[in-house]
Amino acid sequence: MKKKLLCMLMATAMTATLLAGCGGGSSAGTDSAAEPTTDNTAAADTAAADTAADDTAADDMAAADTTAAGGGKVGVAMPTKDLQRWNQDGSNMQAELEAAGYEVDLQYAANDIATQVSQIENMINSGCQLLVIASIDGDSLGTVLEQAKEKEIPVIAYDRLIMNSDAVSYYATFDNYMVGTKQGEYIRDQLDLDNAAGPFNIELVTGDPGDNNARYFFGGAMDVLQPYIDAGKLVVKSGQTDFETVATANWSTETAQARMDAIISANYADGTKLDAVLCSNDSTALGVENSLEANYTGDWPIITGQDCDIANVKNMIAGKQSMSIFKDTRTLASKVVEMVDAIMKGGEAPVNDTETYDNGKGVVPSYLCEPVFADVNNYKELLVDSGYYAESDLQ
Ligand code: BGC
Repeated sequence: MKKKLLCMLMATAMTATLLAGCGGGSSAGTDSAAEPTTDNTAAADTAAADTAADDTAADDMAAADTTAAGGGKVGVAMPTKDLQRWNQDGSNMQAELEAAGYEVDLQYAANDIATQVSQIENMINSGCQLLVIASIDGDSLGTVLEQAKEKEIPVIAYDRLIMNSDAVSYYATFDNYMVGTKQGEYIRDQLDLDNAAGPFNIELVTGDPGDNNARYFFGGAMDVLQPYIDAGKLVVKSGQTDFETVATANWSTETAQARMDAIISANYADGTKLDAVLCSNDSTALGVENSLEANYTGDWPIITGQDCDIANVKNMIAGKQSMSIFKDTRTLASKVVEMVDAIMKGGEAPVNDTETYDNGKGVVPSYLCEPVFADVNNYKELLVDSGYYAESDLQ
């Protein structure tokens, strides 16, 4: 019965998927990856180490749980421990899946595509019955996911859409386009672009070109800002405006910092005021802030971000970053666990968008969580009162 429903679900989700029998055998869990930590913050180091330590013990406990609850084994593939958020995503999901009775194989891939592919292959071959994957490069998983499809293992793309594969059953994320529009609107409102005379100088920094999300973030922000650029109210002095030029490989803080160093020395070293920097996320914002601190002497610009990483919230409190988008990883993890549970029990996963995310093989049914913006006025309520961080984390 369960088998039949799962087949129906996959067939609905991906239209042409033909299934002859579902589910996979269980086998001894592979231990979670001990990705070497190369984090650039002490906080991230601690989080990563905690996660790695927890993984082993949790695997053992989960195996026992699985027997008791008969839940099954779920593979969770995360891109890297370098960024604080993925550590939170991974550990939240592991805790919630285990509480729901599932065994969890949680892996981090050090932002290395080949590592992620082989981790997924291991998950498929070690009896995982469902995969939750936050891809490093959305275009690089097609081949390995063919194997998942052959074994009728459903795949949920987590946060980042997996492109050009018909093995993806669902997508769960925060509304990526809305993240970008909120960043653009923040800059528009802070500079009062509809009323102030201007012109204002702005520079643009977005994320990794292999991450499908980056185009949504940048696209959403530019849909708000482009009309002001066209009207001459916003000026990009560097002239760097197209996605490929303003992208940041691997969302690297150091790469964003080096690019900003060059932009400042070519355009703002003479005292020209920089009014705003659109940064698509916190790791790139941190690079921009480091660069400004070292090279820029004018009034501090408005700087956007995303993730509410601890280092960036501290900078927000210190007046060095204006806002960050808060994507409560607890919300996303809970939603994904709900989706996993529904699929594993033979039902359909909850979705709220069946139009937006076409991965090149068709629209992937999605659940989009709503992001909110945090700034110095509301961070306490959003981040501390909600228990996301302790006050001491931010000191
Ligand atoms: C995520 C962001 C994150 C970025 C870098 C994106 O796919 O949606 O939250 O900041 O990757 O890891």
